[in-house]
Amino acid sequence: MTSRCQTAILISGRGSNMRALIEAAKVVDYPARIALVVSNRPDAAGLDFARSEKIAAISIDHKVFKDRASFERELDDTLKAHNVDLVALAGFMRILGDDFVAGWHGRLINIHPSLLPAYRGLNTHNRALADGAIEHGCSVHFVVRELDAGPVIAQGRVAVHEGDTEASLAARVLNVEHQLYPRALAAVASGQVRLEGGRVVGVDQVADLARFCVS
Ligand code: GRF
Repeated sequence: MTSRCQTAILISGRGSNMRALIEAAKVVDYPARIALVVSNRPDAAGLDFARSEKIAAISIDHKVFKDRASFERELDDTLKAHNVDLVALAGFMRILGDDFVAGWHGRLINIHPSLLPAYRGLNTHNRALADGAIEHGCSVHFVVRELDAGPVIAQGRVAVHEGDTEASLAARVLNVEHQLYPRALAAVASGQVRLEGGRVVGVDQVADLARFCVS
Protein backbone atom coordinates (compact mmCIF):
# COMPACT_ATOMS: atom_id res chain seq x y z
CA MET A 1 0.00 0.00 0.00
CA THR A 2 1.26 3.49 -0.83
CA SER A 3 1.81 5.90 2.03
CA ARG A 4 -1.03 8.13 3.08
CA CYS A 5 -1.41 11.55 1.49
CA GLN A 6 0.16 14.13 3.79
CA THR A 7 -2.57 16.71 4.31
CA ALA A 8 -2.62 20.15 5.89
CA ILE A 9 -5.83 21.80 7.08
CA LEU A 10 -6.02 25.59 7.07
CA ILE A 11 -8.41 27.21 9.53
CA SER A 12 -9.28 30.60 10.98
CA GLY A 13 -11.72 29.76 13.76
CA ARG A 14 -13.64 27.06 15.60
CA GLY A 15 -12.52 24.30 13.24
CA SER A 16 -15.47 21.95 13.35
CA ASN A 17 -14.78 20.74 9.80
CA MET A 18 -11.12 20.31 10.73
CA ARG A 19 -12.27 18.16 13.60
CA ALA A 20 -14.41 16.01 11.29
CA LEU A 21 -11.38 15.48 9.03
CA ILE A 22 -9.12 14.63 11.95
CA GLU A 23 -11.65 12.10 13.26
CA ALA A 24 -12.05 10.51 9.82
CA ALA A 25 -8.29 10.23 9.39
CA LYS A 26 -8.04 8.11 12.55
CA VAL A 27 -9.45 5.18 10.59
CA VAL A 28 -6.51 2.99 9.62
CA ASP A 29 -7.17 2.79 5.88
CA TYR A 30 -8.22 6.43 5.43
CA PRO A 31 -6.07 7.68 2.54
CA ALA A 32 -5.08 11.03 4.08
CA ARG A 33 -2.95 11.67 7.13
CA ILE A 34 -3.47 15.03 8.81
CA ALA A 35 0.13 16.16 9.07
CA LEU A 36 -0.41 19.80 9.95
CA VAL A 37 -2.99 22.40 10.94
CA VAL A 38 -2.29 26.06 10.22
CA SER A 39 -4.35 29.03 11.37
CA ASN A 40 -3.90 32.63 10.27
CA ARG A 41 -5.43 33.62 13.60
CA PRO A 42 -3.44 32.76 16.73
CA ASP A 43 -6.63 32.56 18.83
CA ALA A 44 -8.42 30.03 16.60
CA ALA A 45 -10.09 27.47 18.86
CA GLY A 46 -9.32 24.72 16.36
CA LEU A 47 -5.59 24.94 17.13
CA ASP A 48 -6.15 23.65 20.67
CA PHE A 49 -8.10 20.66 19.46
CA ALA A 50 -5.42 19.78 16.89
CA ARG A 51 -2.72 19.99 19.56
CA SER A 52 -4.77 17.81 21.89
CA GLU A 53 -4.71 15.23 19.09
CA LYS A 54 -0.89 15.54 18.86
CA ILE A 55 -1.07 17.11 15.42
CA ALA A 56 1.42 19.85 14.58
CA ALA A 57 -0.61 23.06 14.81
CA ILE A 58 0.95 26.36 13.84
CA SER A 59 -0.34 29.88 13.76
CA ILE A 60 0.91 32.19 11.01
CA ASP A 61 -0.63 35.54 11.86
CA HIS A 62 -1.30 37.35 8.59
CA LYS A 63 -1.32 40.69 10.45
CA VAL A 64 2.42 40.61 11.10
CA PHE A 65 3.30 40.36 7.40
CA LYS A 66 3.75 43.45 5.27
CA ASP A 67 1.60 42.14 2.46
CA ARG A 68 -0.37 39.14 1.21
CA ALA A 69 2.55 37.80 -0.82
CA SER A 70 4.93 37.59 2.13
CA PHE A 71 2.27 35.91 4.30
CA GLU A 72 1.65 33.36 1.58
CA ARG A 73 5.36 32.70 1.06
CA GLU A 74 5.65 31.85 4.75
CA LEU A 75 2.56 29.64 4.50
CA ASP A 76 3.96 27.88 1.43
CA ASP A 77 7.37 27.36 3.07
CA THR A 78 5.68 25.90 6.16
CA LEU A 79 3.58 23.47 4.10
CA LYS A 80 6.67 22.34 2.18
CA ALA A 81 8.73 21.97 5.36
CA HIS A 82 6.07 19.51 6.55
CA ASN A 83 6.10 17.60 3.24
CA VAL A 84 2.45 18.41 2.62
CA ASP A 85 0.89 16.92 -0.54
CA LEU A 86 -2.64 18.27 -0.24
CA VAL A 87 -4.20 21.31 1.44
CA ALA A 88 -7.79 21.38 2.73
CA LEU A 89 -9.25 24.79 3.58
CA ALA A 90 -11.77 24.52 6.40
CA GLY A 91 -13.16 27.90 7.40
CA PHE A 92 -9.94 29.64 6.31
CA MET A 93 -11.03 33.27 6.03
CA ARG A 94 -8.22 34.68 3.85
CA ILE A 95 -8.43 34.99 0.11
CA LEU A 96 -5.40 33.25 -1.38
CA GLY A 97 -3.43 34.98 -4.14
CA ASP A 98 -2.78 33.74 -7.65
CA ASP A 99 0.78 32.51 -7.03
CA PHE A 100 -0.21 30.41 -4.04
CA VAL A 101 -3.25 28.98 -5.82
CA ALA A 102 -1.20 28.18 -8.93
CA GLY A 103 1.49 26.50 -6.84
CA TRP A 104 -1.06 24.15 -5.28
CA HIS A 105 -3.17 23.62 -8.40
CA GLY A 106 -5.15 20.39 -8.11
CA ARG A 107 -3.94 19.92 -4.54
CA LEU A 108 -5.99 22.64 -2.82
CA ILE A 109 -9.62 22.05 -1.84
CA ASN A 110 -12.22 24.02 0.10
CA ILE A 111 -15.64 23.53 1.64
CA HIS A 112 -18.18 26.26 1.01
CA PRO A 113 -21.62 26.52 2.66
CA SER A 114 -23.81 26.69 -0.45
CA LEU A 115 -24.72 24.67 -3.49
CA LEU A 116 -22.23 26.31 -5.84
CA PRO A 117 -22.43 28.12 -8.17
CA ALA A 118 -25.21 29.64 -6.05
CA TYR A 119 -24.11 32.03 -3.29
CA ARG A 120 -20.39 32.44 -3.67
CA GLY A 121 -18.85 34.60 -0.94
CA LEU A 122 -20.25 35.33 2.51
CA ASN A 123 -23.66 35.20 4.25
CA THR A 124 -24.78 32.24 2.19
CA HIS A 125 -27.52 31.08 4.59
CA ASN A 126 -29.17 34.49 4.87
CA ARG A 127 -29.08 34.94 1.13
CA ALA A 128 -30.69 31.53 0.55
CA LEU A 129 -33.44 32.40 3.05
CA ALA A 130 -34.00 35.83 1.52
CA ASP A 131 -34.42 34.23 -1.90
CA GLY A 132 -36.96 31.73 -0.60
CA ALA A 133 -34.73 28.84 -1.69
CA ILE A 134 -36.28 25.43 -1.06
CA GLU A 135 -32.95 23.67 -0.90
CA HIS A 136 -29.49 24.66 0.22
CA GLY A 137 -26.31 22.87 1.19
CA CYS A 138 -22.56 22.75 0.85
CA SER A 139 -19.94 22.09 -1.79
CA VAL A 140 -16.39 20.80 -1.74
CA HIS A 141 -14.41 22.17 -4.66
CA PHE A 142 -10.92 22.59 -6.02
CA VAL A 143 -9.66 26.12 -5.41
CA VAL A 144 -8.95 28.29 -8.45
CA ARG A 145 -8.04 31.97 -8.75
CA GLU A 146 -11.63 33.18 -8.75
CA LEU A 147 -13.26 33.03 -5.32
CA ASP A 148 -15.55 30.01 -4.76
CA ALA A 149 -15.55 29.34 -8.50
CA GLY A 150 -13.46 26.16 -8.69
CA PRO A 151 -14.70 22.86 -10.10
CA VAL A 152 -17.03 21.09 -7.69
CA ILE A 153 -16.05 17.68 -6.31
CA ALA A 154 -19.16 16.93 -4.27
CA GLN A 155 -22.24 18.55 -2.80
CA GLY A 156 -24.53 17.83 0.12
CA ARG A 157 -28.11 19.05 0.09
CA VAL A 158 -30.56 20.03 2.79
CA ALA A 159 -34.18 21.10 2.56
CA VAL A 160 -34.97 24.62 3.72
CA HIS A 161 -37.74 24.34 6.30
CA GLU A 162 -40.55 26.78 6.91
CA GLY A 163 -39.55 28.94 9.86
CA ASP A 164 -35.83 28.32 9.37
CA THR A 165 -33.56 31.02 10.75
CA GLU A 166 -29.98 31.65 9.70
CA ALA A 167 -28.85 29.67 12.75
CA SER A 168 -31.12 26.67 12.19
CA LEU A 169 -30.24 26.47 8.51
CA ALA A 170 -26.51 26.90 9.19
CA ALA A 171 -26.62 24.09 11.74
CA ARG A 172 -28.37 21.73 9.30
CA VAL A 173 -25.84 22.54 6.57
CA LEU A 174 -22.89 22.20 8.97
CA ASN A 175 -24.01 18.72 9.93
CA VAL A 176 -23.86 17.75 6.25
CA GLU A 177 -20.48 19.48 5.83
CA HIS A 178 -19.07 17.22 8.52
CA GLN A 179 -20.23 14.14 6.59
CA LEU A 180 -19.31 15.37 3.14
CA TYR A 181 -15.82 16.80 3.65
CA PRO A 182 -14.19 13.61 4.95
CA ARG A 183 -15.63 11.68 1.98
CA ALA A 184 -14.43 14.29 -0.51
CA LEU A 185 -10.97 14.52 1.05
CA ALA A 186 -10.65 10.74 0.91
CA ALA A 187 -11.58 10.72 -2.77
CA VAL A 188 -8.94 13.33 -3.62
CA ALA A 189 -6.26 11.93 -1.31
CA SER A 190 -6.63 8.46 -2.81
CA GLY A 191 -6.26 9.87 -6.33
CA GLN A 192 -9.72 8.64 -7.36
CA VAL A 193 -10.88 12.21 -7.94
CA ARG A 194 -8.54 14.58 -9.77
CA LEU A 195 -8.46 17.94 -11.50
CA GLU A 196 -7.58 17.43 -15.18
CA GLY A 197 -7.71 20.20 -17.76
CA GLY A 198 -9.80 22.34 -15.44
CA ARG A 199 -12.39 19.58 -14.89
CA VAL A 200 -12.98 17.19 -12.04
CA VAL A 201 -12.64 13.55 -13.09
CA GLY A 202 -13.35 10.34 -11.23
CA VAL A 203 -16.37 11.33 -9.12
CA ASP A 204 -18.56 8.74 -10.85
CA GLN A 205 -16.25 6.03 -9.55
CA VAL A 206 -16.85 7.07 -5.94
CA ALA A 207 -20.32 5.86 -5.03
CA ASP A 208 -20.03 7.56 -1.68
CA LEU A 209 -19.84 10.97 -3.37
CA ALA A 210 -21.99 10.57 -6.45
CA ARG A 211 -25.02 9.67 -4.37
CA PHE A 212 -24.38 11.92 -1.40
CA CYS A 213 -27.50 13.81 -0.52
CA VAL A 214 -29.02 14.50 2.89
CA SER A 215 -32.15 16.38 3.69
C1 GRF B 1 -18.08 26.32 7.36
O1 GRF B 1 -19.44 26.62 7.22
C2 GRF B 1 -17.42 26.23 6.02
O2 GRF B 1 -18.27 25.75 5.01
C3 GRF B 1 -17.06 27.65 5.74
O3 GRF B 1 -16.67 28.19 6.98
C4 GRF B 1 -17.31 27.45 8.03
C5 GRF B 1 -16.22 26.97 8.92
O4 GRF B 1 -16.71 26.35 10.08
N1 GRF B 1 -16.02 27.73 4.74
P1 GRF B 1 -15.74 25.50 10.99
O5 GRF B 1 -14.60 26.40 11.41
O6 GRF B 1 -15.27 24.34 10.18
O7 GRF B 1 -16.57 25.08 12.16
